[in-house]
Amino acid sequence: MNAKAQTTSLTHLAKDPDWWRGAVIYQIYPRSFQDSDGDGVGDLNGIVSRLPYIASLGVDAIWISPFFTSPMKDFGYDVSNYCDVDPMFGTLADFDAVIEAAHSFGLKVMIDLVLSHTSDQHPWFAESRISHDNAKANWYVWSDPKPDGTPPNNWLSIFGGSAWQWDGQRMQYFLHNFLSSQPDLNFHEPAVQKALLDVAHFWLERGVDGFRLDTINFYVHDQQLRNNPPLAPELRNATIAPQVNPYNHQNHLYDKNQPENLEFLRKLRTIMNDYCAAAVGEVGDAQRGLEILGEYTAGNDLMQMCYAFEFLANDQPTATEIDEVMARVEEVAADGWPCWAFSNHDTMRHASRWGLDQHGLRLMTTLMMCLRGSACVYQGEELGLPEADVAFEDLQDPYGIEFWPEFKGRDGCRTPMVWERTNQSAGFSAGKPWLPVHSGHLKQSVAHQEDDADAILHHYRKAIALRRAHPALMKGRQEDMRVDGDVLTFVRATEGEILFCAFNLGAEPGQVVFPDGHWTNAAGDLRGAVEPSNKTLNLGGWQCCIAVKKGG
Ligand code: BGC
Ligand code: MG
Repeated sequence: MNAKAQTTSLTHLAKDPDWWRGAVIYQIYPRSFQDSDGDGVGDLNGIVSRLPYIASLGVDAIWISPFFTSPMKDFGYDVSNYCDVDPMFGTLADFDAVIEAAHSFGLKVMIDLVLSHTSDQHPWFAESRISHDNAKANWYVWSDPKPDGTPPNNWLSIFGGSAWQWDGQRMQYFLHNFLSSQPDLNFHEPAVQKALLDVAHFWLERGVDGFRLDTINFYVHDQQLRNNPPLAPELRNATIAPQVNPYNHQNHLYDKNQPENLEFLRKLRTIMNDYCAAAVGEVGDAQRGLEILGEYTAGNDLMQMCYAFEFLANDQPTATEIDEVMARVEEVAADGWPCWAFSNHDTMRHASRWGLDQHGLRLMTTLMMCLRGSACVYQGEELGLPEADVAFEDLQDPYGIEFWPEFKGRDGCRTPMVWERTNQSAGFSAGKPWLPVHSGHLKQSVAHQEDDADAILHHYRKAIALRRAHPALMKGRQEDMRVDGDVLTFVRATEGEILFCAFNLGAEPGQVVFPDGHWTNAAGDLRGAVEPSNKTLNLGGWQCCIAVKKGG
């Protein structure tokens, strides 16, 4: 380690290495957050200008979706230079300014590293595809065709069709789990791992506090290229890929989830430890998501957190389902740490997905802030934004274009943030936004909501503040979860603090029997929260009660 690295790590070591546990992480999709130069695409300077707003939410960290050099076929999740900023988003100096400004507000910065694949425009791939014996020949997953010319096995791309793309130059197929312009890196090649660890090191040196790691269970593939077995129809579920996608018809035993993933994650963690950095690894698996989360976050030498898909499902989770998910976490990931999200840049916004009114949305927000785990809030979710309608002519997402109209892709959750009431594009850009601002969003702009005491934006602030005020909610144990109809109750406890949390996840009134002890209201004037009682409490539809035990 050079002298500068040593100073950086020492400064970081002075900080809380556990900062991520129970943190609330605000996800920024940079294209759609704030445009500063009128080109219709959000950028890093735009993020800096909106940091006071993000800090006002009371969150702990920001996660910025990819801003690296990219041909933007998958809007930045196809990287052609890991160690630079795409000119569309700004420069490395602009990124340094993001870090500095975020830190001045006490916000940690997590960047989104997409290590499983690169863009086909990455110089590594350009070199690799030239011949069978160049220095990077083995950096991607190349395979000869079967004798009949068809792909080597039955693996499928999440974005549609075979996971193999023919390359006329090498006269071989290459693997891609996503677009054919996102060739999969070969993690069996030590030089690839080294190059990727260098990328992590580069950004840690620049001062980032952690990573959101894209698709970490896809890093390594089965070297024997064995076929995935079919999955019985009754076992299929559409948590990772939409129902219409035959990707759901396979049991993904061999194209992902390989044990060697852990070896790479361990090396990455070693580097991160020097900087007190934390990672949330995205684990995409429709059948074994939580088990893999448990494996990848066990102990102290892998990921701190994994991103869970359970609450990204189509339907609003019921009290019973939440209880089942939490019981499963307890069973397979007792030692690990989940990171929950209701919305993100890949999924229909939950206000629409779950069809909830303001009462329901508020209650689910409060619930997320009380559950054991860290939590991601996706830009615009704090405004209660519904999914935007995007016409086929305006569609940008190749995933949506492929499966239209049964699945409309991800543009509906990626339309620009709405900041102001007056401006035509709601303060997002002085130019024409890359995706149209959804007209139905205009009346929910930040400016409207700041002036309205009842607005959901204020509810997010209060719910986040509630979590931050209680160590038991941030980092404590979660115990005694019970379900009675739509009513879910549980206890969060840590040394010196016990909280009882009760949620009515339905419109009908419900009842709660309080545990022994003397309880006082912990929720202040949080909308939807009622005063505790010391015996039976009636909860109206979509009401909750968060109570702290007197005397701990
Ligand atoms: C990201 C997606 C992206 C895919 C491929 C993910 O899961 O969240 O937006 O398309 O990985 O990189
Ligand atoms: Mg711009």
